[in-house]
Amino acid sequence: MIEITIDGKKTKVEEGTTIHRAAKAIGIEIPGFCDHELMKPFGICKLCVVEIKLDGKSKFALSCNQKIKEPINVLTSSEGVNKKRREALEKHLSRWPNVPLIKELAKKYGVKEPSTKHPLRDERENACIMCGLCVRMCSEGIWENILGFEGKGDERKVVMLLEKHCLGCGACAWICPTGAIKVTNEINNPVDPNQIRKYGMRVTSELIALDDKQCRMRRVGTGNLVEIMNDYDLLPTHNYKFGGHPDANKIASPVWTRYFTQNTPEGCWLGCSMSCSHVIENFKLRSGPYKGQKVLVDGPEYETIAGCGSNLGIFNPDYIAELNFYCDTYGIDTISFGTATAFAMECFENGIITKKHTGGLELKFGNGDAALELLHQMSRGDGFGVIVGKGVRFMKQYFVDNYGADANFLEDIGMESKGLEFSEYVTKESLAQQGGYCLTNKGPQHDEAWLIFMDQVNNQIPTFEDKAEALHYFPLFRTWFGLMGLCKLPWNDVSPADNRITSEPQKIPGHVEGYCNYYTGMTGKELDPAGLIMQSERVYNFQRIFNLRLGYGTRKHDTVPYRAMGPVTKEEYESRQERYDKQLREKVGINPDGMSTEEKMKKLREYREEQYRKLQDAVYKRRGWTNDGVPKLETLKKLGIDFPDVVEIVKRYPGV
Ligand code: SF4
Ligand code: SF4
Ligand code: FES
Repeated sequence: MIEITIDGKKTKVEEGTTIHRAAKAIGIEIPGFCDHELMKPFGICKLCVVEIKLDGKSKFALSCNQKIKEPINVLTSSEGVNKKRREALEKHLSRWPNVPLIKELAKKYGVKEPSTKHPLRDERENACIMCGLCVRMCSEGIWENILGFEGKGDERKVVMLLEKHCLGCGACAWICPTGAIKVTNEINNPVDPNQIRKYGMRVTSELIALDDKQCRMRRVGTGNLVEIMNDYDLLPTHNYKFGGHPDANKIASPVWTRYFTQNTPEGCWLGCSMSCSHVIENFKLRSGPYKGQKVLVDGPEYETIAGCGSNLGIFNPDYIAELNFYCDTYGIDTISFGTATAFAMECFENGIITKKHTGGLELKFGNGDAALELLHQMSRGDGFGVIVGKGVRFMKQYFVDNYGADANFLEDIGMESKGLEFSEYVTKESLAQQGGYCLTNKGPQHDEAWLIFMDQVNNQIPTFEDKAEALHYFPLFRTWFGLMGLCKLPWNDVSPADNRITSEPQKIPGHVEGYCNYYTGMTGKELDPAGLIMQSERVYNFQRIFNLRLGYGTRKHDTVPYRAMGPVTKEEYESRQERYDKQLREKVGINPDGMSTEEKMKKLREYREEQYRKLQDAVYKRRGWTNDGVPKLETLKKLGIDFPDVVEIVKRYPGV
């Protein structure tokens, strides 16, 4: 830190801070219209000039681009400074006489319009004053280069270089200090576009300022999670046996940062400022129908890296990228492919299936060529790929019926619930996330609830009631994104700078408020956070009733494979023996000394399965469901969905 003095006030700043920002931080406003906290300095308006005193000498400098390197004494309104400011203002006023911010500054400094008129005089109130903020916002903030300058000196003007690629994000219009840029095409007919834009720009500003310090969604997307999950023992490895691997660094985010084309927004739709999608260009394929060709790979995201990488024991990014490309090309979900293939590989390694069954494929963990060939078989509809392509639930039954496999073991290691393959997080140490995956309407996906950090890492929801409250609120909040057709990533993948000091930081209250405002701006109807949850609760209960109508949706369908709860094999237990022994002592209340691994696994299993049953009880109660997981009549009434045909369905179940 460097101590400096500004107008007699002492302050300490980090080396490299500009004088403009240092002054602002201590409440001293220096005029200027071309600087903005989100953008790099430009130094064109010349109004931010200050006098710097150092070693008995004095010099003038533009405070917006003057970085502090040593202790200095700054005067922001000395006689010399004001003279220079007046000269600059006189020139601006002669060119843009009716722009309010220029008029106000001129008045403040006692500058009158000069008699000689500027040759490029623009009398509009919303004239472009050449601050360059829009150009910098488009290139530095949005990573587009749609806007640029044409000409030199006073002749310079802002032009659209690539009109047809403009995202329509509106960020240039938002930052323009005069209103020279306007958004004219209001698609979707919002009732109050400015309300929507206000909150949209709040998120965009946070992204520009904070994303590089938080999740780096714009640089590497969800791939930033690989090393975090590995560090917390949450990265699925070898069909979820383990939560990490010494080779995880080979598929961690720095690797993908190098693979991905950088500084090019690749959003799901035009105007998205998060643009977390990423592509690998000119990727040469080693297999399949396009072997030898250079292609564009759309991804991979975290779930693909974990599902087609670590969970298959594959730590070579080239195989992951190729599996990603062919899954996309064939229309196969990378999560289901990864989890199903991981199951098949574990069965192969346990001798449940052999090369005889796989048609010669050596389906061992780490065999990227075998995984690719399996994927090609799936798409062609031949070979063993046909069986794996039918998913984990099918394989469990098929291997028992046809290969004499142990049904209990396959139930334990087959990572599916409700017929859907698990997404890519190890949930053994997070009871809430076991519920987040399996007390769902849609099966174990990461869309409905993701509570691992809140539960396991930050211990913010220690009791069953706390977990039940989270498993009530978050699935409903997340369901709302689906109802509105919104992406959820801008909600919590970049948090406001002050989020930590809010009363419920895990909910990101500043953003929840923003979503209510989007809704009101779009529809004209007021919505508060409780009303938002109520909208989802209606739909969520309907979804449950749809499941009931189809013969599902009760307690017995909310089951979890034991691999998601705890160690199934000796190898798993012994790999984390210290942790599990400690839990037996502290949570189960038994002394593991002298017990065999099998005995300890049995005790731990009894405890964990009991915990899950208790969680089910608490969650159903909080959701207003019976102990069998059926929505009660009073819940349907409260939500206003007690329609006769709905009531008829739930009445078939006891206790409603
Ligand atoms: S709307 Fe967005 S993409 Fe288009 S010019 Fe403005 S900042 Fe650039
Ligand atoms: S259009 Fe607006 S933001 Fe862009 S240079 Fe002109 S005044 Fe500045
Ligand atoms: S704010 Fe420094 S030159 Fe404009």
